[in-house]
Parts: sequence; C-alpha cells; structure tokens
Amino acid sequence: MATASLNSYLPWLDRQGRFSALRAAALALVVVPALILVWQAWTHQLGSKPWTRAVHDTGTEAMRLLLITLAVSPLRKILDWGKLIGVRRMLGLSALAYAAAHLMLYCIDLAFDWGLIVSEIIKRFYLTVGIVALTGLVALGVTSTDGMIRRMGTKNWQRLHNLVYLITGLSLLHFALQSKIDVTEPALMNGLFALLLVYRGLARWKIGFSTPVLVAAALATGLATAICETAWYALTTGVSAWMVFQANLDVVAYQDLAFLRPGHWVALTGLVVAGLHAWRAPAARQPRGRRAAVSPVADQPSS
Ligand code: HEM
Repeated sequence: MATASLNSYLPWLDRQGRFSALRAAALALVVVPALILVWQAWTHQLGSKPWTRAVHDTGTEAMRLLLITLAVSPLRKILDWGKLIGVRRMLGLSALAYAAAHLMLYCIDLAFDWGLIVSEIIKRFYLTVGIVALTGLVALGVTSTDGMIRRMGTKNWQRLHNLVYLITGLSLLHFALQSKIDVTEPALMNGLFALLLVYRGLARWKIGFSTPVLVAAALATGLATAICETAWYALTTGVSAWMVFQANLDVVAYQDLAFLRPGHWVALTGLVVAGLHAWRAPAARQPRGRRAAVSPVADQPSS
C-alpha cells in the first residue's frame, strides 16, 4: 500500500508502478530548463539584470510547455500513440509551475513593492492579460487531480479544461504585446498554436487525419503564419509589407537554415507530423489483435 502511494509521487513511473521511458523523458524536458536557469544564476551568467532575465526565461518556458501540453491530444490521435496521454498532466502542471515562478520572479524584480506591482498590472495591458491567463491556469491546475475529475464529472471537467485554448491564446497575446522589435518567437509560437487549432478542428469536424489533409494543414498554416508576421511588421514598424514577406522567399535563394522564418518552421513542423503519421499509418490500420505481432507499440492502450 505504502509502495503504491509512493509510486504515485514518482513521476518516472506509470500507473502500474513500472519505469516509463516516456514519463522520464517528459520529466527531463520540464526539469532541465529550470536546472540550467539555476546553474546560470549560480554562476552569474544571467547578465546585469539577472531577475529580469529569469522572468523572461521562465515566461518562455511556460509558453513552450503550454503548447507542448496542447499538442499531446492531437499527436496521440495522429500518431496513434495512446501512451502519450500519460504525460499530459505532468506537462500542464509544469507549465503552471513555470508561470507561477515567472510571476514570483517579477515580484522579486520589483522588490516586493506590492503597490507598484498592483498598479503595473492594472496599468499595463500585457500584464493584465498575463495575470488573467495565470489565474485561469491555476484553476486548471487545481482541478487536474483524479479526485476532482470524479467530483466534477467528466463532462463538466472537460468543459472547464477546454479553457486551456483561451488561456494559451491570452498567454500568446501577453507574449506578443511585450515583444519589442523582433517578433520572431511570438510569431512562431502563434503559428504552432494555429496548427494545433487546425488539428483540433479536423478532429472535431470529423475530417480525420489522413496524410494529404495533414500536409495541406501544414502548408496552409505556414503560409498564414508568414502573412500574419508580415502584417504585424507592416502595421507596427511601417516597413514595406512586401519586403518582410520576401524574407520568407529568400530561404529558397540562400538555402540556409538561418534564413528560416516562423512560417517555414510551422510548415516544417506540420510536415514532420504528416510524415510520422504516414510512417505509422500502416501499423495503425491493422486490427488491434494483429498489430500485436507487427507493431512496436502494441502494448499501448488505444485511448
Ligand atoms: C500563463 C501566464 C503567463 C505566461 C505563459 C507568460 C509568458 C511570458 C513570455 C513568453 C514572455 C516573454 C519572454 C521573453 O521575451 O523571452 C513574458 C514576458 C513577461 N511577462 Fe509573462 N507570462 C505569463 C504571466 C505573467 C504575469 C502574471 C506577469 C506579471 C504580472 C508577467 C510578467 C511578465 C513580464 C514583466 C515580462 C517581461 C516584459 C518585458 O521585459 O518587457 N507574465 N511572459
């Protein structure tokens, strides 16, 4: 009994108490950035404003983990990889932990001057948006336990947790609004979020995840990202829209990875997903019984 309850606290073990390479990899994914940040702080590598730099790094990590968490459900279906669902809670709670650390570091940066902190949050729209997003994330975190799912009922719980899309949208708005001249990273994250929304739409409207549909989704979302990035620069900097859009075409001329724009990365990500789907599709089409003999993922639940 004691061992069973201890197992539920060891994040690298699955529900049966066995070592899970997937859970261990997810744990490394969430813990390593924090360790790097602590190491950089310890060795004075965070520059002249270490607290501000730490606010940025934790914010970026929270954003990344939110997107990775959102990717779990569609990837589980597209790759027919049921076990992936087992790391979603860990990823989501880690996003919350980084976002909470982000707020805490911001308060430290302002020397816990609560009057200043509250007035800044009220005065600066991007901070107001950030605090709303964090509040939503806390609500999801608190209700993420098995007990809460039982108490709320699956339907109500699902309805509440669908808010994660709104919360991610608000976080991305917060990210974009605080960006200065270079919006490469927010544009990339917005594009990846758009790709995830397209996947969600495909599942919801029962279009399904065939390889041609996934390729089309990748290319269309990549193009939309390039157009949005162009529009952002054109509207906020006055730089010629054509010049910005041309940067998306230069990559063909220069054939250099350094010239890849967010639109390219979004399209590439979508194409990789489509490729993995095509690779796994033959195994996925096998009836469950037969798959056991041919698939390396046979022991996974179909969920
Ligand atoms: C879900 C909640 C949140 C997420 C995902 C998030 C994410 C981010 C991201 C990605 C950045 C940009 C980091 C970079 O440029 O490298 C950022 C910046 C920042 N965020 Fe947040 N944030 C959240 C909530 C908050 C809250 C509640 C506050 C404080 C009230 C806050 C304060 C800041 C500040 C001060 C910056 C830096 C702005 C600047 O240097 O001009 N964030 N955040």
